[in-house]
Amino acid sequence: MRTQVAIIGAGPAGLLLSHLLAQGGVESVVLETRSEEYVAARIRAGILEHSSVELLEAAGLGARIRAEGDEHRGIYLQWPGERHHLDFVDLTGRSVWVYGQTEVQKDLIAARRAGGQEIHYEVSDVALHDVEERPYVTFTDVSGAPQRIDAVVIAGCDGSFGPSRSAVPAAQVFERVYPYSWFGILADVAPSTDELIYAWHPDGFALHSMRSESVSRLYLQVPNGTDPQSWSDDRIWGELSKRLGHGQNGWKLNPGPITDKSVLPMRSYVQTPMRHGELYLAGDAAHIVPPTGAKGLNLAIADVALLSRALISKIKDKDSSYADAYSDHAQRRVWRCTHFSWWMTTMLHTSGDPFDAELQLSQLRWVAGSRAGATGLAENYAGLPIGY
Ligand code: FAD
Ligand code: DHB
Repeated sequence: MRTQVAIIGAGPAGLLLSHLLAQGGVESVVLETRSEEYVAARIRAGILEHSSVELLEAAGLGARIRAEGDEHRGIYLQWPGERHHLDFVDLTGRSVWVYGQTEVQKDLIAARRAGGQEIHYEVSDVALHDVEERPYVTFTDVSGAPQRIDAVVIAGCDGSFGPSRSAVPAAQVFERVYPYSWFGILADVAPSTDELIYAWHPDGFALHSMRSESVSRLYLQVPNGTDPQSWSDDRIWGELSKRLGHGQNGWKLNPGPITDKSVLPMRSYVQTPMRHGELYLAGDAAHIVPPTGAKGLNLAIADVALLSRALISKIKDKDSSYADAYSDHAQRRVWRCTHFSWWMTTMLHTSGDPFDAELQLSQLRWVAGSRAGATGLAENYAGLPIGY
């Protein structure tokens, strides 16, 4: 078969790209190794930046975010004995939205289905060929039949384990692996807070997030290699209560039935360039950030905003200037978010070193107590404008 853009991966990057390309009159075919149900149910990110919401709305994908998402003015930053609210709207005029990646994915699937998008789920043996000049992708479809797609370009949106990133020869890779992981739980209990709490604690970081009025999402810093099943529910709630300050100034953490437990290792990874010949990378295929600061999904959306414009100009208007500039342009935001995620991570996670702890507390007091400090965090968290 033949198409204009062969998109590898039906995560948020791949599906949003197919959606924006279709709106710009460019056709695509999407390949995905997993089933549609699996992709829609994967529990991952929960926070959308101001500009991600603007972009999704402009693409006709904002109705459910407005109806079912929860707009937050800011976050709480805390350490033992103190909790401070940072009001992003007051500081920067920009807010964030609590709206799970599962919901973004469902909205994208519904929109692409309505648009008649060709998506091949449960494919295997995906391989990229001749990416320098006449790109094509081969794969085995769900029935076991071998297939080939010839395309003008290939978009590698296949996350950190897909084949696209290694199809860029001699890429430069920057990587940092952190000596701790996040233990995440989902619980059927109303959140104990109106906005997210990021808590520094000598025994490790904790985060109180949420998915809805009746579902809480919480995270604990744990050592790498922790087995989520080795922690009882009582131990999890006990540790969360301690680190989040249950009892501090009358605040209470309400426990409830835990419906999901997982452990997420943390690393920063950037691969450059994000283009080789007619192969373009977007989202986790090109970069990974540690989750502190909620940038991963938002960065994938920002890449796709640039890439869709670049590919529409190249294919429809025969203007390659945006495509030629794509990698350099995208990397500006990638490095901004890589720095912000690293900064949030190293400010909030304890290493056991007392010198580090004093530096972290000093930094937290400054961020929470100075308008300049708070504005820096707010501007990065609520997100710089698309196109930065
Ligand atoms: P992905 O969502 O990974 O999508 C890539 C797709 O490509 C997948 O559907 C995959 O199945 C498919 N694929 C892989 N190989 C192939 C192949 N060979 N052929 C075809 N398709 C293939 N970010 C946050 O901001 N906050 C969080 O709390 C958070 N939690 C996370 C938890 C986990 C466990 C993970 C893995 C990530 C988390 N992230 C979080 C990061 C965020 O979810 C990602 O940044 C975001 O999903 C990136 O979207 P993407 O489309 O680039 O990649
Ligand atoms: C969530 C994840 C994050 O990484 C974060 O910084 C805030 C919230 C979440 O899953 O809700």
